[in-house]
Amino acid sequence: MVKLRKLHEPLEDRKGSLYFDGCSVKELAEKYDTPLYVVSEKRIRDNYNHLHDALIRIYKYVRVYYAAKANSNLTVLKILHSQGAYLDTVSPGEVFMGLITGYTQDRIMYTGTSVRNDELKMLVDANITVNIDSQSELDRLLKISVPQIISVRVNPEIGAGHHSHCVTAGPDSKFGLWEEEAIQAYAIAQRARVEHFGIHMHIGSGILEVEPYVAAVEKLLSIAKRVHDEVGINFEFIDIGGGFGVPYKPEDKEFDWGEFASKVVAPFKNKISEYGLGKPFLCVEPGRYLVADASILLTTVNTVKVTPAKKFVGVDAGFNTLVRPTMYGSYHPILVANKLDKPETETYDVVGPICESGDALAKDRALPEVAEGDLLAVLNAGAYGFSMSSQYNARPRAAEVLIRQGKSFVIRGREQLDNLTANQKVQVDL
Ligand code: LLP
Repeated sequence: MVKLRKLHEPLEDRKGSLYFDGCSVKELAEKYDTPLYVVSEKRIRDNYNHLHDALIRIYKYVRVYYAAKANSNLTVLKILHSQGAYLDTVSPGEVFMGLITGYTQDRIMYTGTSVRNDELKMLVDANITVNIDSQSELDRLLKISVPQIISVRVNPEIGAGHHSHCVTAGPDSKFGLWEEEAIQAYAIAQRARVEHFGIHMHIGSGILEVEPYVAAVEKLLSIAKRVHDEVGINFEFIDIGGGFGVPYKPEDKEFDWGEFASKVVAPFKNKISEYGLGKPFLCVEPGRYLVADASILLTTVNTVKVTPAKKFVGVDAGFNTLVRPTMYGSYHPILVANKLDKPETETYDVVGPICESGDALAKDRALPEVAEGDLLAVLNAGAYGFSMSSQYNARPRAAEVLIRQGKSFVIRGREQLDNLTANQKVQVDL
């Protein structure tokens, strides 16, 4: 029996063929070749609106900082800028890309770790708000110059995330300052005559439950109250970070924004009033939620290989193109784009062209019978997909196209062989 695959926007099954935001993926692959990232402008906008509306309904002063690391394609940055997003950055490169896509300095936040002095100088010169990650960073920043505003990244001692690599708070975390140290940091900044303040946390990434936020926000607000009471400062913003998950596995559920609004945003509003914290902006820093399901990765089957033990589907995208399955064991749904109406009768490892055994996009995956030349679509590829890709094995990086009102546009050309050798210098007498 044909198992019904649940496809939702922007995916569509038209007589067994996959369409993405109204475009035939087969035609896209023929036109642009594979591996190819395909981005839906509409889906990014819908995701932004969905998240923003859920928060603003409860509390008026909301700022959404898009975490550029998830997908720093200039077009993606521009789309989110036009939605009204602010930008969370972690490197001079991300700041640069933010500035050239229209984010003014006052809309950019820097949440670095292990930050260099020249980065601090650039940030303070540009008037970009820094979330301080260590006492060392604060001391070095104040020596360079006294910024107008300082925010401290606090470790609320509660972390969460889809993989231990992606838990960014709690006892083992390298990020943020713990409560007592954070309070001291504000006192030091105040003595140095910093005049404006924010407070920040980011507990992890790929979080589908609301509960970790409930506890962490409670802790963050209790620290904010102590800073307010003991140091005597007011907060212009309280940043509760990003991390909102999207469903990857069939059994995963959607992030529940209604629950988040009632269990996190409403108590936030009550607590800041109870604690006398005024009306600070509530900032969030979503990366994945805004862009993950707005892109798919198209990859062509080169090889079907059957060993006495396993069946392998060899495709032209490996962990050089999408590293998440290899790096975190992450699950990405995969569709055989030209066989949506065929039953999933086979079990394959979907493997790439990289010469390492860890190079698999999926293990033991139920798929219809796959043939050479078939086109696969790896779903939810928009967050930490291209942005974590590499030239490993000397393979030029993939191209990216945007779907905008039913038409496709190249937003990043496919790398060529000379991209592999750019910046290299060979000694002539070798
Ligand atoms: N803010 C800060 C300070 C962050 O470090 C991050 C992500 C975010 C916001 C955005 O988190 P998001 O909303 O996207 O979960 N490469 C991993 C994810 C690492 C996230 C690191 N920090 C992955 O592919 O799952």
